[in-house]
Amino acid sequence: MSNVEEKLAKSLTAESTELIPYLPYLLQDLWELGSSPRDIVDMTKKHIQVSKNTKVLDLACGKGAVSVHVAKALGCMIRGIDIIPEFIDFANKKAQEYGVENLCEFKVGDINEAVKVEKDYDVVILGAVGDVLGNPEETIQMLKSTVKNEGYIFIDDAYGNDDSDVRYLTREKWLIFFQNAGVKLLDERFIEEDEMKSINDEQQSFIAMRANQLKERYPEKAYLFESYIKSQQAECDELENEISVVTMLLQSI
Ligand SMILES: C[S@@+](CC[C@H](N)C(=O)[O-])C[C@H]1O[C@@H](n2cnc3c(N)ncnc32)[C@H](O)[C@@H]1O
Repeated sequence: MSNVEEKLAKSLTAESTELIPYLPYLLQDLWELGSSPRDIVDMTKKHIQVSKNTKVLDLACGKGAVSVHVAKALGCMIRGIDIIPEFIDFANKKAQEYGVENLCEFKVGDINEAVKVEKDYDVVILGAVGDVLGNPEETIQMLKSTVKNEGYIFIDDAYGNDDSDVRYLTREKWLIFFQNAGVKLLDERFIEEDEMKSINDEQQSFIAMRANQLKERYPEKAYLFESYIKSQQAECDELENEISVVTMLLQSI
């Protein structure tokens, strides 16, 4: 099984690559798959001078929720790239629905390849994508390579609450890491616990409904869909209780 497929499954909280063909069905009722479009629009308005010539790259754009809202609110050009063709079809439909099809260009592709050729953007967004581009150091260097000097980078991650959590750096450690990586933190937005819980509850009920439909249709694969419900619930619990999820705006220096 390829590394790309394993990381793709992980980016959507699937424990097995066997689930990949079913992800568009399981996630059909959701538009936003990770980042908060509102936070990204707000931080862009606050820190970045945007014109109709501003170029934005949305890597692993999912179903295009962030791209479409940024294009609609700010009138700038966006290219979104995602590896799941059904997500790109959905993103194109939403761009039309919101009247921003002339500003948005969505393409199917592997972002590991895209970062080698996509250059000279003003802003790059990598929303809720985990380690698809490698560890944090590799990820930041690849994102920097897609933007102009002093270009802007949005990433989502989490701050560990203290040094005992080996999975997530504390905020202090992130700041040291950013300094060494040649970027500065301009702004950060946290999702309130209540908001996170209500989003998770709504999404989880849709996903469970679709997983149960798939269980009926493919009883021999019931274990697969049950494990997805469980892994989604475990992720919701972690996001709500154990870590501080944060969207960060960085500037390349
Ligand atoms: C949790 S979703 C986040 C989507 C979007 N950024 C958002 O915040 O709504 C993760 C996305 O990463 C995409 N993905 C994972 N591996 C990828 C790869 N190698 N190339 C392109 N997209 C990838 C998945 O298809 C999925 O849409």
